[in-house]
Amino acid sequence: MQLMEIQQGAAARATLEQQACTLLRHTAEGTFPLAPEVMALPSDHYTSPDRFEAEKRCIFRRVPLVLAASCEIPTAGDYKTLEVAGVPVLVVRDRYGTAHALLNACTHRGAAVASGCGTAARFTCPYHGWTFAQDGALIGVASSADFGAVDKAMLAMKRFPVTERAGLVWAILDPASPHDPAAMLGGVDELIAPFGLESWTMVESRQLGGPNWKLAFDAHLEFYHVPMLHRDTFGPDRSNRAFYFAQGPHQRVIAPQGRPGESAPDDLYALGRLPVDGEPVDPLLMGEWILFPGTSINTFYLAGIRCVLVSNVAPGADVGTSTTTQTFLAETLPHDAARAAMGEMCAFLAHVVGDEDLPTSAYQQKAMATGLLSEVRFGRNEGGLQHFHTWLDRIIATEDHALPELLCQP
Ligand code: FES
Ligand SMILES: [Fe+2]
Repeated sequence: MQLMEIQQGAAARATLEQQACTLLRHTAEGTFPLAPEVMALPSDHYTSPDRFEAEKRCIFRRVPLVLAASCEIPTAGDYKTLEVAGVPVLVVRDRYGTAHALLNACTHRGAAVASGCGTAARFTCPYHGWTFAQDGALIGVASSADFGAVDKAMLAMKRFPVTERAGLVWAILDPASPHDPAAMLGGVDELIAPFGLESWTMVESRQLGGPNWKLAFDAHLEFYHVPMLHRDTFGPDRSNRAFYFAQGPHQRVIAPQGRPGESAPDDLYALGRLPVDGEPVDPLLMGEWILFPGTSINTFYLAGIRCVLVSNVAPGADVGTSTTTQTFLAETLPHDAARAAMGEMCAFLAHVVGDEDLPTSAYQQKAMATGLLSEVRFGRNEGGLQHFHTWLDRIIATEDHALPELLCQP
């Protein structure tokens, strides 16, 4: 291991321990931090096509996005396709193990070269048959003598700057971006690195349609609604409070107290102290990780196996649509009993989000689209939402050259 990696790992551990100490202290004192004020947000942030264009241009084409978990494409040739804010993307691992993020558009005349997910040695465009390598290089022009001379080297698929860190594939959806996505993560990748997601297994993935991407994502950024909106699923006795720890635009959201009798191996409150060397690091990682702009990672245990639900909320092609992709990962390949429990949990979480959160968000969208509800508000107990929306404005207002420095602010 390089010296720098050791230092980064030590710094991340120190941050995680600091957060754990804060949690333990507040729990012991029965206190709970609040934002200084209630914050108002104009409703047209959710409904204005101009605002949406600004978010697509300044956020989703400039900031590194989580496009996949590494274990979704574990071996050479594995690929998946997705669409983010109208941009069709092909994420693929080449035979050397390197992950690529490509514009899923043939350089002949723009057809999709891949669909769904799978494994492929190369990609043949289904329209006229041009063929591309796993890294996007153009390797074959169908009936090339008839087609005429082209410079194949210049006609590779558009490549997005990509980095694979902490078991996630991140990319900037602008082939011409001058920035290195790895240098724009602000250390949040180091904080989640101890999960070791790169060696996990994907259990299941599904997509849910929703309204404006921020309305869909807001529900991930507070627990205020949990005992109310989710009273029939999570129950009415859940805490509606949350701690927020910020790392640049990213956050970690954690319920302030453990639930009696539901102690899991990652229960910091049951442990009552920091884990020492040689003990599992899990109690330092519990909670929900928010990777700006639209990814959340929820952590829990099932049948003794550590699991996460990665939720990726991506804007749709217009201001009023989004897609939430739920990807369920497990630390080890589940045995039969665990697999059944995980299947049930996947269905449960799809129900909670698809039948409780997203219909509520869709109604909010409809109400705001009337123009009659000029603003909405985030309480002092909704600091995560205040942080998220403040950072959106901050990034939109920042020039390209200053973006990496901004994103790496503590
Ligand atoms: S568009 Fe792909 S081969 Fe014509
Ligand atoms: Fe919810």
